[in-house]
Amino acid sequence: MGTLTNKRILLGITGGIAAYKSADLARRLRDAGAEVRVVMTRTAQDFITPLTMQAVSGSPVHVEMVSAESKTGMEHIELARWADAVLVAPASADFLARLAQGRADDLLTALCLATSAPVAVAPAMNTQMWTNPATQANMLTLRRRAVHVFGPGEGDLACGEVGAGRLLEPVELVTLTAGLFATGELDGLTVLVTAGPTWEAIDPVRGITNKSSGKMGYAVAEAAAAAGAKVILVSGPTALPDPERMQIIRVTSTQEMHDAVHAHVREAHIFIGVAAVADYRPVESAPQKLKKGAERIMLDLVKNPDILASVAALERKPFTVGFAAETDNIEQNARQKLTEKRLDLVCANRVGDGLGFESDTNSLLLIDASGITELPAAAKDKLARALIHHISGKYHVAQERQQQAEGRA
Ligand SMILES: Cc1cc2nc3c(=O)[nH]c(=O)nc-3n(C[C@H](O)[C@H](O)[C@H](O)COP(=O)(O)O)c2cc1C
Repeated sequence: MGTLTNKRILLGITGGIAAYKSADLARRLRDAGAEVRVVMTRTAQDFITPLTMQAVSGSPVHVEMVSAESKTGMEHIELARWADAVLVAPASADFLARLAQGRADDLLTALCLATSAPVAVAPAMNTQMWTNPATQANMLTLRRRAVHVFGPGEGDLACGEVGAGRLLEPVELVTLTAGLFATGELDGLTVLVTAGPTWEAIDPVRGITNKSSGKMGYAVAEAAAAAGAKVILVSGPTALPDPERMQIIRVTSTQEMHDAVHAHVREAHIFIGVAAVADYRPVESAPQKLKKGAERIMLDLVKNPDILASVAALERKPFTVGFAAETDNIEQNARQKLTEKRLDLVCANRVGDGLGFESDTNSLLLIDASGITELPAAAKDKLARALIHHISGKYHVAQERQQQAEGRA
């Protein structure tokens, strides 16, 4: 496995002599396991052709803000969301100035503004340009905004001078890019995630369900995959497209979700139950559409299996994380769920009043035996990354404790 397994790297190339090294960089990023997409500035095309970059990256190269190929017509947003990290190498003095100013006058600067992924720049230029107070002031601004700066190195420059301003070697850039992903926190681990609602059929066209969109569960699954895990996503009916880089099992009812989970739970080191499952199902599901008739009819419901509790009750249970969508008494209800179901961690969120299920943002209270952590409101993909980071820390601590206990026994 490479150091960038499963990572989506958006490689930005700007107009400098060192752009000839970007082809080697793209190849090495892919050798390290990354999926690479390339965005070039217009000037960059004077230094290296999009055709070369397409061949080495294995994907079409993006240059223009407005593109006929874009599915939504908003390529800068599509690419900004796609990326796990943005690496601009080489980064010209002019590009760095535009980035520092927060401009969005071409595809690369616009997506750098639009992404929630880490952004790294690898400056490359003549020494005078690099040491110029204007460039240095721009670098200070970018560092303050948490842009990662890789290099530049020192040595012979293309302009004939010797000094600071060399693009770091591709192999160094790959190592530094891998370092952006806090260690591949879930490398070698399998994570089983449930997402979406379930649907309990009353008849072939009617059923009991809820307002879960599946967005949070899918974001959690994607964040786990981006952290290096092998992910199995068991999804109830959602309108979302299948995420890449994971095994997806589509189910309809809670019983089907339960069965799919138990068919795979033995492989899982971590189980994250994000699905909002129906607690009850009709005792009988009519084979034909029910006809309107009586003024009043009764629907007889029976309890569904509790997927979370059944996983937590396994003798060799994975690290088990549950979600608690609550309209009131959030903390109290979440604590009750933690202890009653013997979970390792509960992620509680408020739903209703436009929050939770259908929205693109969310906030979470993470509750376990050792206390509470609050993840403030953020886009669900960003929140999912923070959650996976938290779960990974807790998982590794739990593993250490277990190993110590086994050592004592
Ligand atoms: C032959 C040549 C080499 C250049 N090399 C560099 C360079 O290494 N670094 C740099 O910052 N600018 C360099 N420039 C200037 C940039 O190409 C120029 O500032 C351009 O506006 C950058 O555009 P971009 O940032 O949109 O790619 C070079 C220009 C020419 C003509």
